[in-house]
Amino acid sequence: MTKPVRVAVTGAAGSIDYSLLFRIASGDLLGKDTPVILQLIEITPALQALEGVAMEINDCAFPLLQDMVLTDDLKTGFDGANIALLVGGMPRKQGMERADLIKANGPIFTGQGKAINDNAADDVRVAVVANPCNTNALIAMHSAPDVPNERFTAMTRLDENRAKSQLAAKAGVPVSAVKNMGIWGNHSNTMYPDFFNATIQGKPVTEVIDDHEWLKGDFISTVQQRGAAIIKARGSSSAASAANALIDHVRDWFTVTPEGEYHAMAVPSDGSYGIEEGLIYSFPVRCDGKGGYEIVQGIELNDFSREKMKVTEKQLLEERAVVADLLK
Ligand code: NAD
Ligand code: LMR
Repeated sequence: MTKPVRVAVTGAAGSIDYSLLFRIASGDLLGKDTPVILQLIEITPALQALEGVAMEINDCAFPLLQDMVLTDDLKTGFDGANIALLVGGMPRKQGMERADLIKANGPIFTGQGKAINDNAADDVRVAVVANPCNTNALIAMHSAPDVPNERFTAMTRLDENRAKSQLAAKAGVPVSAVKNMGIWGNHSNTMYPDFFNATIQGKPVTEVIDDHEWLKGDFISTVQQRGAAIIKARGSSSAASAANALIDHVRDWFTVTPEGEYHAMAVPSDGSYGIEEGLIYSFPVRCDGKGGYEIVQGIELNDFSREKMKVTEKQLLEERAVVADLLK
């Protein structure tokens, strides 16, 4: 049997993880042939609730689940981890922007980054979900100087999925017909869902959908504001769709991206498209199936797109300035 993969997950008693952990243990993340060990990390007051979640996971009798560790100790939690999913942190409430969480959640990522640096496996890959996820990933990356920067990512796959679903509904096609729905920038109200380069049944979106005013206006703002709309409707932030997007993010990171396609992942900028090097910025990426990825080059950008990309870059620069003391 293959060696088990150690998946460390923070916020393990929280809402997103309640939709996530069962899917990891059932093989949705890494395939039906890969055994997993779940290393579940929580803050001390939530350990009792975590016990309850673990009881339910046990009661599923997942054949792939080899072991489960429940802990409030970061060293134990990240020990030997091959994949670290940083979900734990405060979610926003109605009326807040994601960046408002920066002071509450940012400091979590210095300790977690350091613990990953000191304890995780040499091949560790990190995906940050807790908001503001791009900047939290930046903090974790800076706190883990021995881990290659490109191992730190933040999740914009939920935005890609939301954008695909909106386009499919407008065009009256199944969502699987929509490809290359790139998201540029921050997972925030400034992100830019790049419909100009997306396709529907292989044709440019702008050829299939005549209503360009909708694409430039309501489509973009619906995707940018979707998190807030869900908080308003549900009373709490998206959870099952976020867990699903995280499964997509990590599974596709370890899958060869089909020829000619790409997905959205927030990764450290290498200066591509003139974006400030080092920022965790969402780009269209292609993955090599072995945990490597490349930022797709040569994507055509018009003035409309370039302007939107700059707005979201500026917001990330501002977030970085706010947490400058955590980036030492
Ligand atoms: P939740 O409040 O239901 O659960 C969060 C859990 O994290 C809690 O159990 C809490 O005890 C735990 N936690 C807090 N600090 C921790 C720490 N230092 N170490 C370990 N665990 C800790 O929240 P949720 O709905 O699961 O959302 C979690 C985060 O994900 C929020 O910040 C939310 O804004 C974010 N989010 C991001 C996306 C995205 O697309 N990137 C989507 C949805 C939600
Ligand atoms: C989302 O996009 O649903 C999450 O980031 C939660 C939020 O605060 O919007």
